[in-house]
Amino acid sequence: MQNSEVYRHPKYYALGYRWNTDVECDFIESCLKTYAPAGAKRLLDIGCGAGRHMFNLAQRGYQMTGIDPSPEMIAYVQDGAKQLKLPVTVSIGDLRNLQVSGTFDAAYCFMDTFRFLLTNDEIRAHLQAVANVLAPGGLYLTDFWVPTRWDQIGSEIHQWEQTEGTTTVRVFYLQHPDSVDPVTQTFEDELVFEIHEGGDIREIRGGPTRTRLILPLEFQSLVEASGVFELVTSLGTFDLAAPFSHESLSWRMVSVLKKR
Ligand SMILES: C[S@@+](CC[C@H](N)C(=O)[O-])C[C@H]1O[C@@H](n2cnc3c(N)ncnc32)[C@H](O)[C@@H]1O
Repeated sequence: MQNSEVYRHPKYYALGYRWNTDVECDFIESCLKTYAPAGAKRLLDIGCGAGRHMFNLAQRGYQMTGIDPSPEMIAYVQDGAKQLKLPVTVSIGDLRNLQVSGTFDAAYCFMDTFRFLLTNDEIRAHLQAVANVLAPGGLYLTDFWVPTRWDQIGSEIHQWEQTEGTTTVRVFYLQHPDSVDPVTQTFEDELVFEIHEGGDIREIRGGPTRTRLILPLEFQSLVEASGVFELVTSLGTFDLAAPFSHESLSWRMVSVLKKR
Protein backbone atom coordinates (compact mmCIF):
# COMPACT_ATOMS: atom_id res chain seq x y z
CA MET A 1 0.00 0.00 0.00
CA GLN A 2 1.07 3.57 -0.67
CA ASN A 3 1.45 6.57 1.67
CA SER A 4 0.26 4.08 4.24
CA GLU A 5 0.55 6.10 7.43
CA VAL A 6 -1.69 8.90 6.16
CA TYR A 7 -4.25 6.42 4.86
CA ARG A 8 -4.55 4.95 8.35
CA HIS A 9 -6.29 8.17 9.46
CA PRO A 10 -9.54 8.38 7.47
CA LYS A 11 -11.14 10.97 9.76
CA TYR A 12 -8.39 13.49 8.99
CA TYR A 13 -8.21 12.42 5.36
CA ALA A 14 -11.98 13.00 5.00
CA LEU A 15 -11.65 16.53 6.38
CA GLY A 16 -8.48 17.42 4.48
CA TYR A 17 -9.80 16.28 1.11
CA ARG A 18 -13.45 17.34 1.25
CA TRP A 19 -13.07 20.76 -0.42
CA ASN A 20 -13.89 19.91 -4.04
CA THR A 21 -16.20 16.93 -3.56
CA ASP A 22 -19.46 18.55 -4.74
CA VAL A 23 -17.78 19.81 -7.93
CA GLU A 24 -16.26 16.38 -8.63
CA CYS A 25 -19.60 14.61 -8.05
CA ASP A 26 -21.40 17.15 -10.27
CA PHE A 27 -18.80 16.30 -12.91
CA ILE A 28 -19.42 12.55 -12.55
CA GLU A 29 -23.16 13.17 -12.97
CA SER A 30 -22.67 15.36 -16.04
CA CYS A 31 -20.48 12.65 -17.63
CA LEU A 32 -23.19 10.06 -16.96
CA LYS A 33 -25.86 12.30 -18.47
CA THR A 34 -23.74 13.16 -21.49
CA TYR A 35 -22.00 9.88 -22.33
CA ALA A 36 -23.50 6.89 -20.46
CA PRO A 37 -26.53 4.84 -21.46
CA ALA A 38 -29.75 6.18 -19.88
CA GLY A 39 -30.49 5.08 -16.33
CA ALA A 40 -26.86 4.59 -15.28
CA LYS A 41 -26.91 4.13 -11.50
CA ARG A 42 -24.29 1.54 -10.53
CA LEU A 43 -20.93 3.18 -9.82
CA LEU A 44 -17.55 1.79 -8.81
CA ASP A 45 -15.01 3.93 -6.92
CA ILE A 46 -11.46 2.60 -7.36
CA GLY A 47 -9.23 3.71 -4.47
CA CYS A 48 -12.25 5.14 -2.65
CA GLY A 49 -10.36 6.46 0.37
CA ALA A 50 -12.68 7.81 3.08
CA GLY A 51 -15.64 7.61 0.70
CA ARG A 52 -16.26 11.32 0.07
CA HIS A 53 -17.54 10.70 -3.47
CA MET A 54 -19.47 7.58 -2.53
CA PHE A 55 -21.44 9.25 0.30
CA ASN A 56 -22.20 12.28 -1.85
CA LEU A 57 -23.33 10.20 -4.85
CA ALA A 58 -25.31 7.71 -2.74
CA GLN A 59 -27.28 10.69 -1.40
CA ARG A 60 -28.05 11.58 -5.03
CA GLY A 61 -29.54 8.09 -5.59
CA TYR A 62 -26.60 6.11 -7.00
CA GLN A 63 -25.67 2.58 -5.89
CA MET A 64 -22.08 2.74 -4.78
CA THR A 65 -19.34 0.12 -4.60
CA GLY A 66 -15.77 0.92 -3.64
CA ILE A 67 -12.41 -0.73 -3.16
CA ASP A 68 -9.34 0.45 -1.27
CA PRO A 69 -6.37 -1.40 0.24
CA SER A 70 -6.53 0.49 3.55
CA PRO A 71 -8.50 -1.44 6.22
CA GLU A 72 -8.93 1.81 8.17
CA MET A 73 -10.51 3.56 5.17
CA ILE A 74 -12.79 0.59 4.52
CA ALA A 75 -13.95 0.43 8.16
CA TYR A 76 -14.58 4.20 8.16
CA VAL A 77 -16.75 3.98 5.02
CA GLN A 78 -18.65 0.97 6.36
CA ASP A 79 -19.43 2.81 9.63
CA GLY A 80 -20.54 5.93 7.77
CA ALA A 81 -22.76 3.98 5.36
CA LYS A 82 -24.41 2.19 8.28
CA GLN A 83 -25.01 5.39 10.22
CA LEU A 84 -26.37 7.25 7.20
CA LYS A 85 -28.25 4.17 5.88
CA LEU A 86 -26.77 4.63 2.41
CA PRO A 87 -26.37 2.01 -0.37
CA VAL A 88 -22.57 1.88 -0.18
CA THR A 89 -20.61 -1.40 -0.31
CA VAL A 90 -16.84 -1.45 0.13
CA SER A 91 -14.12 -4.05 0.27
CA ILE A 92 -10.37 -4.30 0.46
CA GLY A 93 -8.87 -4.20 -3.02
CA ASP A 94 -5.95 -3.14 -5.18
CA LEU A 95 -6.18 -1.35 -8.52
CA ARG A 96 -3.22 -3.42 -9.76
CA ASN A 97 -5.28 -6.57 -9.38
CA LEU A 98 -8.88 -5.43 -9.51
CA GLN A 99 -11.26 -8.00 -8.11
CA VAL A 100 -14.80 -6.88 -7.51
CA SER A 101 -18.08 -8.62 -8.13
CA GLY A 102 -20.91 -6.99 -10.01
CA THR A 103 -21.44 -4.99 -13.18
CA PHE A 104 -21.19 -1.20 -13.21
CA ASP A 105 -22.43 1.58 -15.46
CA ALA A 106 -19.36 3.67 -14.65
CA ALA A 107 -16.18 3.56 -12.61
CA TYR A 108 -13.88 6.34 -11.51
CA CYS A 109 -10.39 6.60 -9.99
CA PHE A 110 -9.83 10.07 -8.59
CA MET A 111 -7.23 12.21 -6.87
CA ASP A 112 -4.09 10.79 -8.45
CA THR A 113 -4.76 7.20 -7.43
CA PHE A 114 -4.26 6.06 -11.04
CA ARG A 115 -0.56 6.99 -10.80
CA PHE A 116 -0.01 4.04 -8.45
CA LEU A 117 0.00 1.99 -11.66
CA LEU A 118 3.74 2.09 -12.30
CA THR A 119 4.26 0.36 -15.63
CA ASN A 120 2.59 0.26 -19.03
CA ASP A 121 1.74 -3.39 -18.40
CA GLU A 122 0.02 -2.48 -15.13
CA ILE A 123 -1.98 0.26 -16.84
CA ARG A 124 -3.04 -2.02 -19.70
CA ALA A 125 -4.02 -4.85 -17.33
CA HIS A 126 -5.93 -2.39 -15.15
CA LEU A 127 -7.88 -0.97 -18.10
CA GLN A 128 -8.80 -4.50 -19.17
CA ALA A 129 -9.91 -5.40 -15.63
CA VAL A 130 -12.08 -2.27 -15.36
CA ALA A 131 -13.64 -2.92 -18.78
CA ASN A 132 -14.47 -6.46 -17.63
CA VAL A 133 -16.77 -5.16 -14.86
CA LEU A 134 -18.41 -2.39 -16.90
CA ALA A 135 -21.70 -2.74 -18.76
CA PRO A 136 -21.61 -2.09 -22.55
CA GLY A 137 -20.92 1.60 -23.16
CA GLY A 138 -19.83 2.03 -19.53
CA LEU A 139 -17.59 4.94 -18.56
CA TYR A 140 -14.26 5.11 -16.77
CA LEU A 141 -13.20 8.50 -15.37
CA THR A 142 -9.64 9.19 -14.25
CA ASP A 143 -7.93 12.23 -12.78
CA PHE A 144 -4.18 12.55 -12.25
CA TRP A 145 -1.46 15.13 -11.87
CA VAL A 146 0.53 16.23 -14.93
CA PRO A 147 3.45 18.67 -15.04
CA THR A 148 2.94 22.14 -16.52
CA ARG A 149 6.70 22.48 -17.19
CA TRP A 150 9.44 19.89 -17.85
CA ASP A 151 11.54 21.17 -14.96
CA GLN A 152 8.60 20.67 -12.64
CA ILE A 153 8.69 16.88 -12.92
CA GLY A 154 9.18 15.46 -9.47
CA SER A 155 9.26 18.82 -7.69
CA GLU A 156 5.63 19.86 -7.37
CA ILE A 157 4.33 21.07 -3.99
CA HIS A 158 0.69 21.60 -3.11
CA GLN A 159 -0.62 22.81 0.20
CA TRP A 160 -4.11 23.49 1.48
CA GLU A 161 -6.11 23.28 4.69
CA GLN A 162 -9.62 22.50 5.86
CA THR A 163 -11.23 23.27 9.22
CA GLU A 164 -14.24 21.83 10.98
CA GLY A 165 -15.04 22.92 14.54
CA THR A 166 -11.77 22.97 16.46
CA THR A 167 -9.91 20.68 14.05
CA THR A 168 -7.78 21.91 11.17
CA VAL A 169 -6.01 19.56 8.78
CA ARG A 170 -3.21 21.14 6.76
CA VAL A 171 -2.30 18.88 3.84
CA PHE A 172 1.10 18.99 2.11
CA TYR A 173 1.59 17.09 -1.15
CA LEU A 174 5.33 16.94 -1.89
CA GLN A 175 7.34 15.40 -4.70
CA HIS A 176 10.97 14.52 -3.91
CA PRO A 177 13.17 15.87 -6.78
CA ASP A 178 16.15 13.58 -6.06
CA SER A 179 14.00 10.51 -6.53
CA VAL A 180 13.18 11.06 -10.21
CA ASP A 181 14.04 8.04 -12.36
CA PRO A 182 13.76 9.15 -16.00
CA VAL A 183 13.93 5.58 -17.29
CA THR A 184 10.91 4.27 -15.42
CA GLN A 185 9.26 7.73 -15.33
CA THR A 186 8.73 7.38 -11.61
CA PHE A 187 9.48 9.52 -8.58
CA GLU A 188 8.65 9.54 -4.90
CA ASP A 189 5.90 11.71 -3.55
CA GLU A 190 4.59 12.08 -0.06
CA LEU A 191 1.55 13.31 1.84
CA VAL A 192 2.00 15.05 5.17
CA PHE A 193 -0.89 16.01 7.43
CA GLU A 194 -0.41 18.69 10.07
CA ILE A 195 -3.27 18.31 12.55
CA HIS A 196 -4.30 21.23 14.74
CA GLU A 197 -6.74 19.95 17.32
CA GLY A 198 -7.76 21.23 20.75
CA GLY A 199 -4.63 23.38 21.09
CA ASP A 200 -2.26 20.54 20.01
CA ILE A 201 -0.33 20.31 16.74
CA ARG A 202 0.92 16.99 15.42
CA GLU A 203 2.22 15.69 12.14
CA ILE A 204 1.42 12.49 10.26
CA ARG A 205 3.93 11.70 7.49
CA GLY A 206 2.78 9.26 4.83
CA GLY A 207 6.29 8.20 3.91
CA PRO A 208 7.77 8.43 0.40
CA THR A 209 5.77 6.54 -2.20
CA ARG A 210 6.94 5.77 -5.73
CA THR A 211 4.43 6.97 -8.31
CA ARG A 212 4.42 7.13 -12.09
CA LEU A 213 4.47 10.17 -14.34
CA ILE A 214 1.88 9.64 -17.07
CA LEU A 215 2.13 12.08 -19.96
CA PRO A 216 -0.97 13.03 -21.95
CA LEU A 217 -0.03 11.48 -25.30
CA GLU A 218 1.23 8.38 -23.54
CA PHE A 219 -2.10 8.00 -21.77
CA GLN A 220 -3.92 8.40 -25.08
CA SER A 221 -1.74 5.68 -26.66
CA LEU A 222 -2.19 3.30 -23.74
CA VAL A 223 -5.96 3.70 -23.84
CA GLU A 224 -5.97 3.11 -27.61
CA ALA A 225 -3.64 0.10 -27.26
CA SER A 226 -5.88 -1.41 -24.59
CA GLY A 227 -8.49 -2.02 -27.29
CA VAL A 228 -11.22 -1.93 -24.66
CA PHE A 229 -11.76 1.82 -24.24
CA GLU A 230 -12.13 4.86 -26.44
CA LEU A 231 -10.75 8.14 -25.02
CA VAL A 232 -13.79 10.40 -25.28
CA THR A 233 -12.16 13.56 -23.95
CA SER A 234 -9.41 14.87 -21.65
CA LEU A 235 -10.09 17.95 -19.57
CA GLY A 236 -8.00 20.40 -17.56
CA THR A 237 -10.38 20.26 -14.62
CA PHE A 238 -13.72 18.76 -13.56
CA ASP A 239 -15.68 20.52 -16.26
CA LEU A 240 -16.72 19.07 -19.61
CA ALA A 241 -16.36 22.55 -21.15
CA ALA A 242 -12.68 22.93 -20.10
CA PRO A 243 -10.44 20.93 -22.47
CA PHE A 244 -7.00 19.89 -21.30
CA SER A 245 -4.64 22.47 -22.78
CA HIS A 246 -1.28 24.06 -22.26
CA GLU A 247 -2.86 27.53 -22.47
CA SER A 248 -4.83 26.90 -19.29
CA LEU A 249 -1.71 25.43 -17.60
CA SER A 250 -3.71 22.39 -16.56
CA TRP A 251 -1.92 20.67 -13.67
CA ARG A 252 -4.30 17.73 -13.71
CA MET A 253 -5.73 15.71 -16.54
CA VAL A 254 -9.30 14.50 -16.13
CA SER A 255 -10.23 11.90 -18.74
CA VAL A 256 -13.44 10.26 -19.84
CA LEU A 257 -13.08 6.75 -21.29
CA LYS A 258 -15.94 4.78 -22.79
CA LYS A 259 -15.99 1.01 -23.06
CA ARG A 260 -15.93 -0.07 -26.71
C1 LIG B 1 -5.09 10.26 -2.69
S1 LIG B 1 -6.19 9.05 -1.99
C2 LIG B 1 -7.65 9.25 -3.00
C3 LIG B 1 -8.89 8.71 -2.31
C4 LIG B 1 -10.20 9.05 -3.05
N1 LIG B 1 -10.18 8.55 -4.40
C5 LIG B 1 -10.45 10.55 -3.04
O1 LIG B 1 -10.48 11.16 -4.11
O2 LIG B 1 -10.62 11.09 -1.95
C6 LIG B 1 -5.52 7.58 -2.57
C7 LIG B 1 -6.26 6.33 -2.08
O3 LIG B 1 -5.74 5.26 -2.84
C8 LIG B 1 -5.60 4.16 -2.00
N2 LIG B 1 -4.60 3.27 -2.60
C9 LIG B 1 -3.27 3.22 -2.39
N3 LIG B 1 -2.72 2.23 -3.11
C10 LIG B 1 -3.73 1.67 -3.82
C11 LIG B 1 -3.82 0.58 -4.72
N4 LIG B 1 -2.73 -0.11 -5.06
N5 LIG B 1 -5.02 0.25 -5.22
C12 LIG B 1 -6.13 0.95 -4.89
N6 LIG B 1 -6.11 2.00 -4.04
C13 LIG B 1 -4.92 2.34 -3.51
C14 LIG B 1 -5.21 4.71 -0.65
O4 LIG B 1 -5.48 3.81 0.42
C15 LIG B 1 -6.06 5.98 -0.61
O5 LIG B 1 -7.29 5.76 0.01
